[in-house]
Amino acid sequence: MTQTFAEKIAHAQDFLPINGTDYVEFYVGNAKQAAHYYKTAFGFQSLAYAGPETGLRDRASYVLQQGKIRLVLTTALKSDHPISEHVRKHGDGVKVLALWVDDAFKAFEETTKRGGRPYQEPLVLNDESGELRMAGIYTYGETVHMFIERKNYHGVFMPGYRAWESEYNPEDAGLLYIDHCVGNVGWNRMNETVEWYEKVMGFVNILSFDDKQINTEYSALMSKVMSNGNGYSKFPINEPAEGKKKSQIEEYLEFYEGEGVQHIAVATNDIVKTVRALRSRGVEFLSAPPEGYYNMLPERVGRIEEELAPLRELGILVDCDEEGYLLQIFTKSVEDRPTLFFEIIQRKGAQSFGAGNFKALFEALEREQELRGNL
Ligand code: FE2
Repeated sequence: MTQTFAEKIAHAQDFLPINGTDYVEFYVGNAKQAAHYYKTAFGFQSLAYAGPETGLRDRASYVLQQGKIRLVLTTALKSDHPISEHVRKHGDGVKVLALWVDDAFKAFEETTKRGGRPYQEPLVLNDESGELRMAGIYTYGETVHMFIERKNYHGVFMPGYRAWESEYNPEDAGLLYIDHCVGNVGWNRMNETVEWYEKVMGFVNILSFDDKQINTEYSALMSKVMSNGNGYSKFPINEPAEGKKKSQIEEYLEFYEGEGVQHIAVATNDIVKTVRALRSRGVEFLSAPPEGYYNMLPERVGRIEEELAPLRELGILVDCDEEGYLLQIFTKSVEDRPTLFFEIIQRKGAQSFGAGNFKALFEALEREQELRGNL
């Protein structure tokens, strides 16, 4: 009998309790403009700012919020800076997947003693709003997990940041929380990475897809989903597989110049409304699957509450598992390098990741790859 999601994650170890995603930090070439893009296009709100005006001499960070999602956009102010190096090599991309924990020092101790490589030694930050503790370890590539403990902190974001009051406050787009963040790793690195999440973080592998299940005429990939014990933290991992042509994972690895975050999936309660709002603000989505996809839907996923016409019009995909169904759609890359993109997801019981859509999705991705001359 197939195990439910709850049964699968019950085996996770509890030495690293996680309350959810705290924030995702991007290193970018121009944080001021990136912040404007995420406000305008995705409907994020201004939350906090740190930079020269708050005593930070070498960088500027803009914190944006929508629902429970916090994005931090950080840029260095001089070329001779690790952040500038990161941007020069990878382009704009995700540096930090921060996890909200009750005890950051213990999280650091438990993970480093199991082999986690330190990135940030345990640190206490104070201001008039209290005390915030943090620590961090490396995961794949140059990406890091920070552990953030804020139970004794009541400020707007973190010591060092001030509230960012802006006169420009575009309406939100109904984005609620981060559902999962996917990483791309290099050839033959899947098992190592999966073992790392098991051993160092106490996560469990809840789903696996091999290249027989995820392939198109041209390319293939493998994917394994890692989850913590309460399911609040889910990190699917992709590895390229041999195909006739270059896979989208290989293209990512080539242009990101290494392993890194491929996509961030954000949840909504009304995907049709959210996608309409995002499109009207200039967010670009992958092209819709062929007509046949929607004709097959009732047969493939059974009855759904949504009307088919708007799904078809917007190119929203539907998949199901034993626990229900889900609706999802993927943006094009949000920078010129074909690297990071976003997924918008609405879960209606399903706890899986849309494997039934992988083929339609990858064919859409390959149409983009071909236009770039990278297939
Ligand atoms: Fe996803």
